[in-house]
Amino acid sequence: KTALPATSKPTVSQYACQRRTTLDNQNKIFTDAFEVLAESNEFLDSRGQCLAFRRAASVLKSLQFTLRSLDDIEGLPCLGEQIKSVIEEIFEFRTCSKVEEILRDEKYQTLKLFTSVFGVGPKTAEKWYRKGLRTLKAVLAEPDIHLNKMQEAGFLYYEDISKSVSKADAQAVETLIKDTISYYSSDTKLFLTGGFRRGKEHGHDVDFILTTPEIGKEQALLLFLIDKFKNLGILLYSDFQESTFDIQKLPSCKFEAMDHFPKCFLILKLKTGEQTAGVQQNQNDSRDWKAIRVDLVAPPADRYAFAMLGWTGSTQFERDLRRYARKERRMLLDNHALYDKTKHAFLEAQTEEEIFDLLGLEYIEPWQRNA
Ligand code: CTP
Ligand code: MN
Ligand code: MN
Ligand code: MN
Repeated sequence: KTALPATSKPTVSQYACQRRTTLDNQNKIFTDAFEVLAESNEFLDSRGQCLAFRRAASVLKSLQFTLRSLDDIEGLPCLGEQIKSVIEEIFEFRTCSKVEEILRDEKYQTLKLFTSVFGVGPKTAEKWYRKGLRTLKAVLAEPDIHLNKMQEAGFLYYEDISKSVSKADAQAVETLIKDTISYYSSDTKLFLTGGFRRGKEHGHDVDFILTTPEIGKEQALLLFLIDKFKNLGILLYSDFQESTFDIQKLPSCKFEAMDHFPKCFLILKLKTGEQTAGVQQNQNDSRDWKAIRVDLVAPPADRYAFAMLGWTGSTQFERDLRRYARKERRMLLDNHALYDKTKHAFLEAQTEEEIFDLLGLEYIEPWQRNA
């Protein structure tokens, strides 16, 4: 056996898609701090700063040891001076003063509260804050605030959907959908995606991909499902977006761009088998159901692998997949396709493994994508 030189450390890639990140985070004390800093910068609309903190958190999540001293971060990517000083402060005091200050800040607390409502983003939250509103009750009582349908549902079911969804809930929804799609066609396929596919025990919603072996047949699937849910009396909210998919179009470089497959953002009534207090005005009625957020997307079968890769996440993993494709391979990747700018050609793939292969990446399992 030849001993490795004492200084040799495994190199950590700057790209999350070249790191294996499980849910076993050894550096939570640091990553929690960075996530607060990232979110506060998101509220301030400082995109660059926000991303820098998210990248730093993501690098630390991939480490299989807990940082003990500044020597440990030597050679790690994405940890600039500002990030280093936060880490240093946490080494010394177990906490970071800037983070403590943010957590005590009334504006941060209020924006966090407002954006916890389904349909409310940083822009709307900021607008309400500027009006002097500080609580959800105050928002609802304000006469000149017009809530859109999504926000209305967000407030109505706030109690339920602000709590996290368990794996058991996710499985119950899966069974419900499976039973329902069997009426559409016996060969409709249903796949769990998003955080639960990455092995998470809890999520803010449940994400599914649905498709049919026959291309084109998936188009009417979601509307069929929505209609069935309505008839079953379990459709509490539905935002359906029809397909705008165009096979000729080059993959979008922007990660934030929505994909073009038919999809829907739903709130479903899930039977729980236990009694819970009623929603809103019906506080006194007990009920045996809870509201649950469900996202469905229906790509054509030949786009399945791209959709699955795109919807599995994590968000940071997806960002870096696209950045890696563009910067290191001169390729464009999104939820629909992979395009090679050198060959001027689309590259086809039936599985996620094939996409990693085409990108020249080692395969990363879904549970290793918690970047
Ligand atoms: N996604 C997407 N296009 C959308 C909405 C979501 O591509 N219009 C992708 C996101 O990039 C993400 C995945 O779908 O990778 C799941 O999104 P989301 O449910 O928000 O996050 P999760 O990772 O599942 O986390 P959580 O447990 O909080 O739901
Ligand atoms: Mn999700
Ligand atoms: Mn989440
Ligand atoms: Mn989702």
